[in-house]
Amino acid sequence: MNKQKKTKIVTITLNPAIDQTLYFSQFHVGQVNRVGRKCLDPAGKGINVAKVIQSLGHDVAVSGFLGRENAYFFEQYFQAAGISDHFIRVDGATRVNTKIIDESTGQVSEINFPGIQYNASNFQELKNVIMQLAEEAKLFVLSGSLPGNAPLDLYREFTEILKSYDCKVFLDTSGGALAEGLKAKPYAIKPNLSELEQLIGHSLEQERDVLNAVETLISGGIAKVVISLGGKGALIADGRQRLLVRPPDVRVSSTVGAGDALVAGMVYGEAQGMSLEEQARWATAVAAASVAQPGTQAGQLYEVEKLIPNVIIKEWEV
Ligand SMILES: Nc1ncnc2c1ncn2[C@@H]1O[C@H](COP(=O)(O)OP(=O)(O)OP(=O)(O)O)[C@@H](O)[C@H]1O
Ligand SMILES: [Mg+2]
Repeated sequence: MNKQKKTKIVTITLNPAIDQTLYFSQFHVGQVNRVGRKCLDPAGKGINVAKVIQSLGHDVAVSGFLGRENAYFFEQYFQAAGISDHFIRVDGATRVNTKIIDESTGQVSEINFPGIQYNASNFQELKNVIMQLAEEAKLFVLSGSLPGNAPLDLYREFTEILKSYDCKVFLDTSGGALAEGLKAKPYAIKPNLSELEQLIGHSLEQERDVLNAVETLISGGIAKVVISLGGKGALIADGRQRLLVRPPDVRVSSTVGAGDALVAGMVYGEAQGMSLEEQARWATAVAAASVAQPGTQAGQLYEVEKLIPNVIIKEWEV
């Protein structure tokens, strides 16, 4: 295998969106409202992960589906960020999801579209692109929910293909897509606590219960399991170690995309050849730096580096 392939990262986003955030000093339902200011941001979990990896200074490629009609919005963004664009253009426009922020109450109302309906040939084309990328890249992130008409086992199929190219797959999804995807034994998964509970089928009250669930996943053939616990941090495990990782104290600006930043930090650590402990420390600092930024903005490398010494790691004996 060539050395470059070892560290190349690709993220896949099947159902991206443009987030349109509208700010109102006060929002009145049923009346005419004047917009104070407006933000347009590219959204979608794989795109968020890529944004964070790029801001850490590591090259990243992105793929998935974009509606041809408004693809220019993403193209401009990828170009400015230096992200390598391998998205497939499909007929139609990528959905624009609107968030209405009432600044007097802080309330957020969201209006979301279902997204483009893809057809079988779109999925086949994406498989072909993934196979091409797998010749060059080693680390793949499959993240986010599946579009409504995607086969439930799509992540399973992608994972099987990628493993046949000796690639490592980081899978961050939920519900049936996660349960099916797990059957292909991705290299790593990152459910949050409620996604893990849904997967296991019952609530996990104690840290010990979470640990038992992690044991089951590891013994089932998942090499790295990351359970994110919001502000409490994460439980990060491989075949040898069980680490409880507590984040540093930061001023919380927005926890949107915190999970994506944690995944980005894990994949970045993998590309750098870090030990599990180093990787856990980095990923947690990356997530904390992202939480300290508004929206889904990523923290810069120097901000992450400042937070690293304040990450607390406790190891459980296995
Ligand atoms: N208040 C906080 N302070 C510091 N770090 C935080 C805070 N909230 C979350 N994090 C970090 O972000 C990580 C991921 O958070 P969380 O468990 O909320 O992910 P998630 O539910 O998958 O989020 P997402 O909405 O992005 O999918 C945590 O493991 C933690 O490291
Ligand atoms: Mg998540």
